[in-house]
Amino acid sequence: MTISDAELFDNARAVRERAHAPYSKFKVGAAIVDESGRIHVGCNVENAAYPLGACAETSAIGAMVSQGGKRIMRIAVLGGAGKIEPCTPCGGCRQAISEFADDQTRILLLNEKVEIVSLAVAEILPMPFRFTLK
Ligand code: THU
Repeated sequence: MTISDAELFDNARAVRERAHAPYSKFKVGAAIVDESGRIHVGCNVENAAYPLGACAETSAIGAMVSQGGKRIMRIAVLGGAGKIEPCTPCGGCRQAISEFADDQTRILLLNEKVEIVSLAVAEILPMPFRFTLK
């Protein structure tokens, strides 16, 4: 059965509730549909040693890879301190997403009106770093 974008956001909304964000108070949830149609979720996990904190997107990617997922078909991201507000992936997460993305991959966000906005990786990260062995 195909997972709708709304259903993917429901998963992101649910995992956001489990975010560990006592420092920023900004809770983020991310939900991925992989190439097999499976959903993988992640939330931000902050740490008293601030730089050790993990973003929701990287947590979700870790879950996907741990379960054998290879490609991000869609990733829904939502966040906010208190209520949901527009939340775009940070630069590092854009690179992390690009590692498992292709031209078909859609990044789904919510705008000011809480409407779904669908973007391609190339739109949010021009010139991603690629590692090439020579
Ligand atoms: N955060 C994410 O989880 N994803 C993003 O793309 C933006 C920022 C988290 C990191 C930190 O725990 C909190 O939001 C505030 O920056």
